[in-house]
Amino acid sequence: MIKKGNLYYPTKEFKKQAWANSPSVYKEANKNPKRFWADLAGELVWFKKWKKVFEHNPPYFKWFVGGKINITYNIFERNLEQRKNKVALIWEPEPLEERPRILTYYQLYKEVNKFANVLKKLGVKKGDRVGIYLPMIPEVIIAMLACARIGAIHSVVFSAFSPQALKVRLQDTEAKILITADGYWRRGKVIPLKNNADKGIKDTKVRKVVVVRRIGNKIDFKKGRDFWWHELMENQPEYCRPAVMDAEDTLFILYTSGSTGKPKGCVHVCGGYTVQALWTGKLIFDWKDTDIFWSTSDMGWVTGHTYSCYSPLLNGVTFVIFEGAPDWPSADRWAQIIDKYGVTVFYTAPTAIRMFAKYGREILKGHKFETLRLLGSVGEPIDEAAWQWYFREIGKKRCPIVDTWWQTETGGILITSLPGIGPFRPAYTGIPFPGTRFEIFDEKGKPTKAGQEGALVLLPPFVPSLLRGVYKNPKKYLSTYWSEYGKKVYFTSDAAVKDKNGLIRIVGRLDDVIKIAGHRLTTGELEAAINLCPSISECAVVGVPDKIKGEVPVVFVVLKKKIPDLKKTVVAQVLKEIGPIALPKEVYQVEDLPKTRSGKIMRRILRRLFTGEKLGDLSTLANPESVKKIKKIVKKMK
Ligand code: WTA
Repeated sequence: MIKKGNLYYPTKEFKKQAWANSPSVYKEANKNPKRFWADLAGELVWFKKWKKVFEHNPPYFKWFVGGKINITYNIFERNLEQRKNKVALIWEPEPLEERPRILTYYQLYKEVNKFANVLKKLGVKKGDRVGIYLPMIPEVIIAMLACARIGAIHSVVFSAFSPQALKVRLQDTEAKILITADGYWRRGKVIPLKNNADKGIKDTKVRKVVVVRRIGNKIDFKKGRDFWWHELMENQPEYCRPAVMDAEDTLFILYTSGSTGKPKGCVHVCGGYTVQALWTGKLIFDWKDTDIFWSTSDMGWVTGHTYSCYSPLLNGVTFVIFEGAPDWPSADRWAQIIDKYGVTVFYTAPTAIRMFAKYGREILKGHKFETLRLLGSVGEPIDEAAWQWYFREIGKKRCPIVDTWWQTETGGILITSLPGIGPFRPAYTGIPFPGTRFEIFDEKGKPTKAGQEGALVLLPPFVPSLLRGVYKNPKKYLSTYWSEYGKKVYFTSDAAVKDKNGLIRIVGRLDDVIKIAGHRLTTGELEAAINLCPSISECAVVGVPDKIKGEVPVVFVVLKKKIPDLKKTVVAQVLKEIGPIALPKEVYQVEDLPKTRSGKIMRRILRRLFTGEKLGDLSTLANPESVKKIKKIVKKMK
């Protein structure tokens, strides 16, 4: 890249070959966003064309009204002629001695059709919800696409979530069928996924469980309820007619953390999501037929859905998915994978980058990263040091870095500098995608000036892939996204600031969401989990800065009754209710939590004990003396 002041630009060579290389795409798109999106949508195959591009009844809106489509038809039938025997997907298992699995577009097409027929045979109909609790193995993609093929709504649950977390999601979707596996590898250990699934489906409507044999570990198998995937797939016809879906029919529900412990089901629809998935991948990752793409995200998160499944497939790209942890069994496993498959575009989270950097230069020896041409970052703010390390040591100062801002709610990337245009600035995510209108508002809802922090909002006509609702909870939809600045402004809950070039820096969340190693959780849901301990009278969780993981939770508890091993108890409780990603770093027993006179816990003050910020005015507290005491306890335990 070329450096000019504090900005970076793509080289002439990169620019020349890029899909988007002139700022005129922004000018054109922003003149008339609806027309822009309609032009992009025109590249897809629609069974029936839409009558109206955009319809707005705040806070509700629709895109491509009256259009009929199927995303799998656009992945397969639209691409197969050109790419029948092209590799779609390379699966790298965690054990080094095990062979990878490679599926071409045609093979994947047949597997998807077969499994779509299986689902039909099991009684799944259009609009039914299907739970998917699978690790990173090809079947997770096959299962998602098979649902989409027949118009069933998939709801993928992260395989490292606890049985309890699975249960609350299944209860909300009322899925009657769950697809899972016997187990999977994680850091050399077998995770007994089927056992977890058995616990998770209790008290739900799940009556049928399809089990993929991944490991061959011993599992309980309940006749009449449990079915082996491979047995069901035997002798299935290799074609299943794609369901004709309305553009506004639901494609999937993906849960994201809610503040009370009850997660929110983000509803994504068939038309708009397909348009966004196709085009954001193409323009942001600049995919060509020769690219090998690897996104390290798990399918349980939105990044997995869009960029480890739908987007590369719609674009006919070859991509890698990986079962294991990037630093297992050796710290450079991720680098080995890049070398092994000649990855050209690599997409990961700042936590992974900081972890790689911590292992030091030593692990980079022997890896030249010559095949890489573009790097991406996602999920949390990337600090300047991590950006520079990524740029220098992995990208060898050659590869542009697209820092991509988006959310489970937005379905696709919405802010990033396009790689063939730039400019890129470390720690700044970039500019809004063409045709996308963002503003940074002050408290009064007025746009801020450059350098002035405010709330990041998205203005009409929004984007085709923005969520259409919170499943079965319209109140939550209205209060979370459409209340802060009225029903016509989508509130992202992020604070942001613009520089004079219009580049946006994400400052952080304005609500109680914390990002632990890029995983989205809320302090509220952790508190709800911990408060279930009978001996705990109340607790407060705050996210505190961590050098590698970005943020980690720490817990303050007030006890009703003494607990012999407090930390162990709290950790076990979090494991049971949520899973290992939410593990608290420290648990502090305190007498009292700082509260306002109206009884609100002042988490902000607790957080400041770890950030080094001034504690500020404590006189508004009902119990200012509590802070001093807590400060002492924290200091003692550091
Ligand atoms: C944060 C992940 C800074 C942000 C795709 C957002 C980011 C939340 C970035 C959504 C980025 C995501 N820079 N912060 N490039 N990308 N975030 O739903 O706070 O897991 O609101 O979606 O992650 O997290 P989610």
